[in-house]
Amino acid sequence: MRVVTDPAELRQASPPPLVLVPTMGALHAGHLALVRRAREAAGPDGTVAVSIFVNPIQFDRAADLEAYPRPLEADLDRCREAGVDLVLAPQAGAMYPPDRSVTVLETSLSKTLCGATRPGHFDGVCTVVLKLFNLFRPAAAVFGEKDFQQLAIIRRMVRDLDVPVDIIPFPTVREADGLAMSSRNLRLSQEQRADAPRIHRSLRHAAGRPDREAMVAAAREGIESPLNRIDYLELVDAETLQPHPDPGRRALLAAAVFYGEVRLIDNQPVAPAAG
Ligand code: PAJ
Repeated sequence: MRVVTDPAELRQASPPPLVLVPTMGALHAGHLALVRRAREAAGPDGTVAVSIFVNPIQFDRAADLEAYPRPLEADLDRCREAGVDLVLAPQAGAMYPPDRSVTVLETSLSKTLCGATRPGHFDGVCTVVLKLFNLFRPAAAVFGEKDFQQLAIIRRMVRDLDVPVDIIPFPTVREADGLAMSSRNLRLSQEQRADAPRIHRSLRHAAGRPDREAMVAAAREGIESPLNRIDYLELVDAETLQPHPDPGRRALLAAAVFYGEVRLIDNQPVAPAAG
């Protein structure tokens, strides 16, 4: 496995096709499932690349950026075990010149859901992902459906800016009790951790209800507990992320829930007839 910290070293060619898994590190089984999907797409002779970079410009709170875990040595071990060929783990200074002045702006899909309470977050995501695409020039890149808004926005950027990369979606990987895997789960207290599986349980149960009002009401009732606070809970079109999906289009029941300072997100696909 080749580990580079200087992005310029990526100009040295790797065997094609190259399939990229962008991450912020603190790798868990969800990330590693994306790596396996990348290997499937790259084939045994292609290159599976992982970027590990806690992207400062997608954090809206300095405290959150500082608190983000950075277990680099453990991450590199996991990548090695998972058969990754190439890792980019740069310092922030190597990615962003101090006088940088060009950014990717997304003006529609990023205005709702997670974007509504995190201004600038998805512009920071788009900017770093486009930079990673330019550095690696991957044939394909894998993104998790847990972060469905991020996935939809990356797809929109690739479409709107004609970026020559295939976006491969990957289903949410869960703990045995249904909680979506996340590096943030480690920041939950024991009590909060025991309570949090209600998010997935309730979304899945509510997705079987006949219409939007019944779904949202059932999900709210199931998710609410004395330990949490719902940030948003909405039935949205899977592609446009608009709140009232047309019947016949794929929809998602999506939630963001605070346990103390820790914000967890999850979503559940809903059969097309609903809405
Ligand atoms: P990060 O949160 O590290 O996630 C990296 C990738 O792993 C994303 O595509 C995310 O959707 C996926 N992922 C995380 N948890 C998952 C789970 N339980 N099941 C399936 N996939 C999961 O998302 C980011 O980093 C950043 O915003 C990034 C795209 C790297 C840009 O900085």
